[in-house]
Amino acid sequence: MPTALIGLGSNLGARAAACARAASLIDRLPQTRLVALSRLVESAPIGGPPQRPFVNAVLRVETGIRPGPLLRKLKRIERDLGRVPGLRWGPRRIDADLLYWGEAVVRNGSLDLPHPRIAERRFVLDPLAEVAASFRDPVRGCTLEALRDRAAPEVRGQEVSVMKPVPRTWKFLGERIARRQSDGARRAPARILRTVAALRRYVAAARRAGRSIGFVPTMGALHEGHLSLMRRAKRECDVVLVSIFVNPMQFGPREDFSKYPRDLAGDARLCSSAGVDAIFAPSVEAMYPPGFKTCVDMRDLTEPLCGRFRPGHFRGVMTVVAKLFLQVQPDAAFFGQKDFQQAAILKQMARDLDFPIRIVRCPIVREPDGLAMSSRNAYLSPEERSQALCLSQALTEARRLLRGGERRAGRLRRAMKRIVRAVSGARIDYISIVDPETLRDVEQATPSSVALLAVRIGPARLIDNAILGE
Ligand code: PAJ
Repeated sequence: MPTALIGLGSNLGARAAACARAASLIDRLPQTRLVALSRLVESAPIGGPPQRPFVNAVLRVETGIRPGPLLRKLKRIERDLGRVPGLRWGPRRIDADLLYWGEAVVRNGSLDLPHPRIAERRFVLDPLAEVAASFRDPVRGCTLEALRDRAAPEVRGQEVSVMKPVPRTWKFLGERIARRQSDGARRAPARILRTVAALRRYVAAARRAGRSIGFVPTMGALHEGHLSLMRRAKRECDVVLVSIFVNPMQFGPREDFSKYPRDLAGDARLCSSAGVDAIFAPSVEAMYPPGFKTCVDMRDLTEPLCGRFRPGHFRGVMTVVAKLFLQVQPDAAFFGQKDFQQAAILKQMARDLDFPIRIVRCPIVREPDGLAMSSRNAYLSPEERSQALCLSQALTEARRLLRGGERRAGRLRRAMKRIVRAVSGARIDYISIVDPETLRDVEQATPSSVALLAVRIGPARLIDNAILGE
């Protein structure tokens, strides 16, 4: 169903309660479902007589009601909640404006879509970017996040503050949406797409309905780390698509391609529980048909760290991700900081090749004892599993030293090495302190420097990292 974005405002009576009541009534309209609420913000009125500050918010809804009838229903809700038509810029109990309806562009006097004053009002731009960062403004051709970030200085200068604490009525509404989403997620199994043609049909239908697409590429054997990316995508986009493909091109000849864990049925259940809408699980032949010859490569960022120990690995990653980006054409793609170098390379690739895709880097998810979650942890025996803690312990030590004032990267590296070397059977590929942009070693560490290490323990090659000041 198409996405509509609705702005609410009130500066008369119980302002937050009026917004919550309006949102609740909108949620009850036929063929309409509230899927996200922004926070409530307060701002001074623009124009008109002296009056109280406004409370504003934006709702994201999915609706089968066409824009004209939807606007009429919003006006009806305004009247039902006691809005008295009167002074144009005067105080009002509730204002409900249709800001966007899918990618519809309408200018006919009674209906203007997108709403004409969006870019002039920070109290609209901020909440819009909160609930629909990747939504594309059909007139300006940019995302709502970009629209907010590019607002004129006088608009950015408008004072807007988030209402704190969150009023009870608004919190309830948010909880209702979250509950419904997790119920829905439990019920609806993710659709499995096996071919590029099926994927393209699925994506085209979502696009026609004006829905934004969030994409999470994986190689399966899913765990909480992967699921955290899917949940983040679900919060920020209308449709979430996950790819599961063990990509032969990124494995070296003596690496673990053939024994990499594969469990599509189990993975599909996990995806469904995280609210994923569809899974793209192509065969190797579908991705690399006979005669395939092209690859994507990059200088510089691919050379240090894992690049030194896994020649050709990042070429394989870039090639498959570039193909997936072109097949899915998502609005945003979500990657884990767990693979810090990979995320940096893919961000650079998207920039260099003009992929109009927002690349989002998400935090590392760890086991309670600190071990970074990884599909490759399954290779470890119980003894190796406890030895593997040396990676996160080394990172904790580097952060502790930095906090204590140590800036010499050599000292930090040596301290990390001591911890890893104390574990018999741990073989270090590298331990580095680098600049987060260039990925080159630094002499003097700062809070934004990143410590990274790759260590072989038993049959597994494990990687981990931390931004030192975080
Ligand atoms: P895979 O190792 O399956 O990881 C898929 C995504 O999950 C990556 O973005 C990775 O960084 C993220 N991830 C893995 N463990 C995580 C953790 N503990 N916390 C947070 N995020 C985590 O990375 C790949 O697959 C492939 O190279 C791919 C990009 C899919 C290309 O084939």
